Amino acid sequence: MSDDLELRDTADQLPDRFENPGFPPHEQRRGDVDPRANKFSERIVVALFAVSILGTIAMIAAYFAFPPGETAASMQRSNLAMGLGLAFALLGIGTGAVHWAKSLMSDHEVAEERHPLRSSDEVRAQAVEVLKEGAADSAIGRRTVLKGAVATSLALFPLTIVVPLVGNVGGDWDVASFKRTMWKKGTRLTTDPLGRPIKAADVTIGSITSVIPEGLEETAHPLDEKAKAVVVLLRLDPRDLKIQPGREDWQYDGIVAYSKICTHVGCPVALYEQQTHHLLCPCHQSTFDVADGAKVIFGPAKRALPQLPITVDTEGYLVASSDFTEPIGPSFWERLR
Ligand code: FES
Repeated sequence: MSDDLELRDTADQLPDRFENPGFPPHEQRRGDVDPRANKFSERIVVALFAVSILGTIAMIAAYFAFPPGETAASMQRSNLAMGLGLAFALLGIGTGAVHWAKSLMSDHEVAEERHPLRSSDEVRAQAVEVLKEGAADSAIGRRTVLKGAVATSLALFPLTIVVPLVGNVGGDWDVASFKRTMWKKGTRLTTDPLGRPIKAADVTIGSITSVIPEGLEETAHPLDEKAKAVVVLLRLDPRDLKIQPGREDWQYDGIVAYSKICTHVGCPVALYEQQTHHLLCPCHQSTFDVADGAKVIFGPAKRALPQLPITVDTEGYLVASSDFTEPIGPSFWERLR
């Protein structure tokens, strides 16, 4: 009770409006009083934009000098080289702009009191004037070298996006290749990444294994092929399986194989809940029921995971009966059929 009274007393003593303490004394920068220091600052800004120009050129050179290739090492090399170029291209523009603003533009402090959200026409006109003054204050018109450095770095930077995009147009993209994978009749299912063939007798009920086709490493583009062909192999109690019409011989004694590529936007599905037979995609939580043809039971995916028809060979190893019978991956590939 007494605390409450004390607070109210203090509030009564507060003034309606605090006095504006004003700005601290203005301290001039070296460049404001020394023309040589001003010139030096300008050179630093030019150098920073030059770094951006070199970064852009380096990024484009790296794009051609270090193509991604087929191995993880070559992809890392390509990403590193292009990433470094891009980093310097952006860093140069960012630090150049900041240094320019801090060392060359006017540093007079300006305060603007709060006011209703839409300014009056008069204030808006004033704002335009201030912007014009700011543009004049930046002295871009007089500093020709600086103007050239800024214009060149800004003009070149979009090339870091355009060149890789244009580079892919007319490349060796074979859209039809998205519709098929390297699975074919008799291809053995092998463990990922070791490539060991899998015997049906070794697959236990409740297990889930990531599987790749035998001979993947010998293909011309193993990473591309793996991205399309990788499947998850699961074994359920055959009594729990709801066999889809027309797929009576697509599973072997409760062992089923589904594409690992989520039909939403292509993340690898991997989280398996053994009790419910639900397979979850970690990206946006699409959930597939592997006991019921991997149909979607939750999430943004719009179609079931494609099933790979499987059987066993004479030695008891699991083999594919054919390729997938529908495109794997995000549903938009279906439109290309
Ligand atoms: S990619 Fe799997 S839910 Fe989005």
